[in-house]
Amino acid sequence: MNRRTFLALAALSGATGTAGLAAGCGSGTGHHPAPPPLDLSTPLRIPPLLHPPADLDGVRRFELIMAAGQFELLPGKPTTTWGFNGAYLGPTLRAGRGDRIAMTVRNALPEASTVHWHGMRLPARMDGGPHQLIAAGHRWTPTWTIDQPAATTWYHPHPHGATAKHVYRGLAGLFLIDDDHDAELPTGYGTDDIPLILQDKNLDDHGRIDGDPLKGPFGILGDRILVNGTYNPRFDVTTTRLRLRLLNASNARMYQLAFADRRPFHLVATDGGLLAAPVETGTLALTPGERAEIVVGFDPGDNVVLRTLDTGIDIGMGDLDLIRFVAAEQLRPAPGLPAGLPAPAPIVPPADAKVRHFTLSGRDSINGRPMDMQRIDEVVPAGAVEIWEVENSTGASHNFHIHEVAFQVLNAQGTPTGGHKDTVFTPAHTTVRLAVQFGPFSDPVEPYMYHCHVLRHEDAGIMGQFVTVAPGTESAVPRTYAGPAHAH
Ligand code: C2O
Ligand code: CU
Repeated sequence: MNRRTFLALAALSGATGTAGLAAGCGSGTGHHPAPPPLDLSTPLRIPPLLHPPADLDGVRRFELIMAAGQFELLPGKPTTTWGFNGAYLGPTLRAGRGDRIAMTVRNALPEASTVHWHGMRLPARMDGGPHQLIAAGHRWTPTWTIDQPAATTWYHPHPHGATAKHVYRGLAGLFLIDDDHDAELPTGYGTDDIPLILQDKNLDDHGRIDGDPLKGPFGILGDRILVNGTYNPRFDVTTTRLRLRLLNASNARMYQLAFADRRPFHLVATDGGLLAAPVETGTLALTPGERAEIVVGFDPGDNVVLRTLDTGIDIGMGDLDLIRFVAAEQLRPAPGLPAGLPAPAPIVPPADAKVRHFTLSGRDSINGRPMDMQRIDEVVPAGAVEIWEVENSTGASHNFHIHEVAFQVLNAQGTPTGGHKDTVFTPAHTTVRLAVQFGPFSDPVEPYMYHCHVLRHEDAGIMGQFVTVAPGTESAVPRTYAGPAHAH
């Protein structure tokens, strides 16, 4: 792109970026000032990588501490935020398939919380859902073995009724899983393998996080976008290709990502791992909780903005600029894009697969029942492949996340399509059919969750609980939660 085209696009993006705000502003106190047009010039923060070597016993030991701190969301305006091992967001954790993990999570917040490993395949007691509450001043020490394909997963609090608040204040981070059979994709963390954690906020005059994440139909639909906690960000490109690991860690906003010059890019992974082959596209939708990995090419001197397009959908209103990529005049060559990738096998339901139906019919319940931590809604045999039908019978957007599993969306012919996922968009008045692969873990007491990942909806009760148990024991399993009231 030449400089004149860039300037024209920059001017255009500034203008539409501002114009889209009124539509995008769905909540908050309404007193926060409208943001000025962006120049996208602040160097992108890259979350520090936490990749401890294995100890002599072969275990990788991670330490996280949840605490309040001082952080500049706007330059020169320090405010109080929450984070892991720092004031805002958390380190990027990294481990490989087969690794044994010992995690210590300390809660130095003024209130109880939990840490859920979103996308991780692990026993329910280690999952960090609402039952694994960590009281203020206490710690939690889950252990597990990583046994799943390479993927971009993440972690965030899950205290029932307060998840929206805890995530909005800043608690979230990435957890990257490597596999021996990693593809020939860029892997230089922070150089050509770049995390992009997308969040929208409302900020007041003092740069403070503003707005009530439990107000209005969706909670927060903020008018300022943060990428890795950086407002108005720029990334300096030094290689001919970048792998971008995208996470929608917003409370409610969906993104329809595209480059301002409409350059094509390749989708290489979804929530649960790599695709069988790169898929060329120009736009990518991402609802809260979803991840995607894309590979995008750059020419020397390129200067291009990644933005979200107005979808016309209630949780995706407004054009907003996310980040500018500025390519050096000399770029180092990146690996070529592989024709095929080591994707996990398709999830094919057996002919007699159990079908379960979930109706999202309001803002606080599934199948007519609001979340009840004392009620076990579903009992699933460990290792099963089932069909879960999720019907959004409302006129508003929701999405659907299932803990521990991998699933694929089924097409009208019942064939799995797309990549492995754990979170899926359920637009208004639609039904999605999922082929769901459950893990091998059995525990008749501790449940996993399924829920809408619009955090205001999750907190309001669009959530249910399931246990996975030894096959054949389903009918003997208590339907009332029988575990400890609180685990410290
Ligand atoms: Cu990302 Cu139950 O959550
Ligand atoms: Cu919802």
